[in-house]
Amino acid sequence: MKHPYYLILFIALFLFNCQQQPNKVDEIAIIPKPLEQSISSGNFVFESTISLKTEIQFASVANYLTDFLKSELDITTKNSDEKHQIVFSLNDEIDNDEGYELSVTPNQIHIQAKTKKGAFYAVQSLLQLFPVDIDKNKTTALPCVEIKDKPQFRYRGMHLDVGRHFYSVDFIKKYIDLISRLKMNTFHWHLTEDQGWRIEIKKYPKLQEVAAFRKETLIGHYSDQPHKFDGKKYGGYYTQEQIKDIVAYAQQRQVTVIPEIEMPGHSQAAIAAYPELGCTGKQVEVATKWGIFEEVYCPSESTFKFLEDVIDEVITLFPGKYIHIGGDEAPKTRWKNCSHCQKLIKKEGLKDEHGLQSYFIQRMEKYINSKGKQIIGWDEILEGGLAPNATVMSWRGVGGAVQAAKEGHDVILTPTSHCYFDYYQSDNEKEPTAIGGFLPLEKVYSFNPVPKELTEDEAKYVLGGQGNVWTEYIPTSQQVEYMTFPRAIALSEVLWSTPEHKNYNGFINRLEQFQRRLDHLDVNYANHIYEVKGKLQNHDGKLTYELSTVSQSYSIYYSTDGSEPTTLYKSPIPVDASMNIKAVVKNDEGKAMGYEFEQKVKLHKGVGAKISINKEPHPSYNAGGKEALVNGISGNNKRYGDKEWLGFWGEDIEITIEFDKPTEINSISTRFHNGNGQWIYAPVSLSIEFNKANESSITQTVGLYSNKKTISDVQIDFSEEENLFCKSIRLIIPNYGIIPEGKQGGGNKAWTFIDEIVIE
Ligand code: ACM
Ligand code: ZN
Repeated sequence: MKHPYYLILFIALFLFNCQQQPNKVDEIAIIPKPLEQSISSGNFVFESTISLKTEIQFASVANYLTDFLKSELDITTKNSDEKHQIVFSLNDEIDNDEGYELSVTPNQIHIQAKTKKGAFYAVQSLLQLFPVDIDKNKTTALPCVEIKDKPQFRYRGMHLDVGRHFYSVDFIKKYIDLISRLKMNTFHWHLTEDQGWRIEIKKYPKLQEVAAFRKETLIGHYSDQPHKFDGKKYGGYYTQEQIKDIVAYAQQRQVTVIPEIEMPGHSQAAIAAYPELGCTGKQVEVATKWGIFEEVYCPSESTFKFLEDVIDEVITLFPGKYIHIGGDEAPKTRWKNCSHCQKLIKKEGLKDEHGLQSYFIQRMEKYINSKGKQIIGWDEILEGGLAPNATVMSWRGVGGAVQAAKEGHDVILTPTSHCYFDYYQSDNEKEPTAIGGFLPLEKVYSFNPVPKELTEDEAKYVLGGQGNVWTEYIPTSQQVEYMTFPRAIALSEVLWSTPEHKNYNGFINRLEQFQRRLDHLDVNYANHIYEVKGKLQNHDGKLTYELSTVSQSYSIYYSTDGSEPTTLYKSPIPVDASMNIKAVVKNDEGKAMGYEFEQKVKLHKGVGAKISINKEPHPSYNAGGKEALVNGISGNNKRYGDKEWLGFWGEDIEITIEFDKPTEINSISTRFHNGNGQWIYAPVSLSIEFNKANESSITQTVGLYSNKKTISDVQIDFSEEENLFCKSIRLIIPNYGIIPEGKQGGGNKAWTFIDEIVIE
């Protein structure tokens, strides 16, 4: 019997349509971007069974791939040697333990690596060659590619604080699984805090009964005064069995788990369980709000015995090389008033309480080293002298890393400016409440873990970097996902790919695809790809407002009077009056793809004037340059890290504004940020020097009453002054000074953050 020709055509079309991938793709969308990759024509097409051959040391990685094929595509593997097959082979010539080669040809998927890690990363790249909308009912075809890849840094980590909030075992596994897909190799598990102790220690049952639970939790933001509480008992801990299960799960994904057992600070929960661990011996409660607490371990013999016992149990659970001992934010008040501590300082010939902190850490390091493990500590462990073998995790900027690397210590970079994923990621007022700060995706992507201050030799001590997720304001696992992704995705590329390979627009194109994979994995990531950004431009006094969005896929619509944005944006908007700009990205059907953007521009007398400042703003908080203070745009109401606020660390500043013609001054207003939890303090006074057109000058000083508001508004009215025509004015702003002990950042210099200077 003959087949009618149309039936053959129908079958051919059916087969063609069922392919999940066009015949040749133009770009491979792998994140982090591989070192070398090329695409050729042709596909590797899967059938319902595929032959898989592996060398024995890669069997567990091959099983991981087999599980994926079975669960996602109903494809089974068979252990046989056929023409059409997947092969894992050992290649000792690959020059990096985590490196790999992946070749896909029409007949073979060939993975070569030197270790299991490399083979696992090859599989992760392979998984990103599969269609984003994977479908069991369609034929799966992969593009033919050649990839040679290896990481730039050895340490590629993500941290999670489970003390402030507590998450299920299943979620911890999901978090580890997600970071492993980004070729991150370390999970830093922050297990003990003032607000909860989360690891079972069998020798000390009260850590489970008392320290793991707080009686209630602060509602809202710490800076919303007066404080209110929810009245609900909260807590939990991971049993040793659960921890072993998690560590084994992580091992299958080539992720090392580093436990953090905080000392001497952030220990109030443990002291609540065993008051004799503190200096006063008095009963305290597990903390119910956030911040820094004075209850720290007293360096007594019984405390060291307790901590050594804890470490003994911890070591049996975590096979990795490192134990993180914290070391950050330990106030010295209790030690100053404790006769034991003072005697110990004298007996050991220590300089002061910082010397005692150093003694504490060094003693614990010796113990941990004697068990064959190394310590990591936050950069405060530098104070009073670094423990001989310690690795430093630099979080208060990069200074700690620079100092430690120059002293020959390994360092891991995790500065607040680029790695704190508990900070806000968008200016949008609808963002969920966060601790503060501003760290958008692009800033994470711009991170370079090697501080400029290091020579090439010193830079060898930089092991890599890490993103931190502190969870005071992150009560649910969905919100952990929202804060972590996509910023961890950007960080993965910072840590894996070389700087020459980084390109933000290219990254965004790949991220659009990666996010669809996250949809499939049910991840609640933040989607700011379709957000509109605005920038005021000043070309020889002509002001325009420029709108942009990172995605190339859709157009921007706007309005300038606060109405619904309906005008298609083609070129920068001329700004010749104060205006209220609204804008949104819409798809071809007119559906809004992201949040609506809104920006008020106020054309006051200072806009476009010449501005100079006696001190450079801190490089991390200088996004808009000094002109940001006279560009007609005020900073975000909650966050100081956007491009409108300028930040200065510990410096007295003088800002001079020169007008191009004598200008009458009726009022001056500005704003200072006062986020004390982030070490930011409004100044206590402000002086203004008026340099008049008639060459005379007067200075006025106003006291700024300290208030508890996060934003300190200053408005000074001069309309009573006659004839205040000025050539220039100078604002003299003394720094707040040293932060009092007991406050967050106590003993450190305070930051000054200033916003737009509005002159009318
Ligand atoms: C830290 O953020 N306190 C290390
Ligand atoms: Zn003491």
